[in-house]
Amino acid sequence: MDGRPIAVFDSGLGGLTAVSALIGLYPNENLVYFGDTGRVPYGTRSRRTILRFSAQAARFLMTFDPKALVVACGTAGTAAMEAFDCGVPSVGVVEPSVHKAAAVTRSGRVGLLATPASVRTGAYSECMRKTDPLVTLTERDGRLLVPLVEAGRVGPGDRVAALLVEEYCVPFREAGIDTLILGCTHYPLLTGLFAAALPGVTLINAGAEAAGALRGLMERAEPGGSGSLRFFVSDDAEGFSEQAAMFLQREVAEMAEGVDIEDFLL
Ligand code: DGL
Repeated sequence: MDGRPIAVFDSGLGGLTAVSALIGLYPNENLVYFGDTGRVPYGTRSRRTILRFSAQAARFLMTFDPKALVVACGTAGTAAMEAFDCGVPSVGVVEPSVHKAAAVTRSGRVGLLATPASVRTGAYSECMRKTDPLVTLTERDGRLLVPLVEAGRVGPGDRVAALLVEEYCVPFREAGIDTLILGCTHYPLLTGLFAAALPGVTLINAGAEAAGALRGLMERAEPGGSGSLRFFVSDDAEGFSEQAAMFLQREVAEMAEGVDIEDFLL
């Protein structure tokens, strides 16, 4: 038995979409989550800053001696994946979601919506080129969506969210895509709005794909744990349970613990 936890990282709460999938896949594993809520969003920052923040997050998570690490943040995974190179088996969101999109597209026209930093790196398009050079990837950044999701503005009746999603989908409709990668782990919270804006288009949930990509690793690892969940945030932990419940789509009894992430110096 190996009771060491699976560590999950995101810049904020979006990575909880990966936690949700992990709980379903590995209900007995212990999970430890760190959301850098004091510094979210990462997606509008420079690579240098994202690298520094990511390295601190990795350093903090390594204090739990995890058996595996899920970088459930498209931005950190595209701009700073090397920061998580800590000798622990790790998965990010780029490869799993690109592989899934390449496998399910019929038309060979795929869309990618991610943060500005993720799109800027070209990591998704490079991965798609290697995976299937015949697929055309239409990329767009959804820079206004992360603060909206963190603020809980995700309901089907939210006019602002609906308007933004509709606007972000225009180039995808023009490109005739049949598959859209929601390449930022916050976006799956808006799945209903994307489905309405792009009827018939398959939506790929990057966080869930990252969790699924752990399967190979977990088959080789020793199982263990009691299904415990620990949440850490770098800002005020108050109100976390309500917000987390929205991402996890279930009641959250666990309280989040605060962490002074700047103490984890490089
Ligand atoms: N959840 C992060 C991602 O997947 C985005 C949030 C941010 O901009 O920090 O890219």
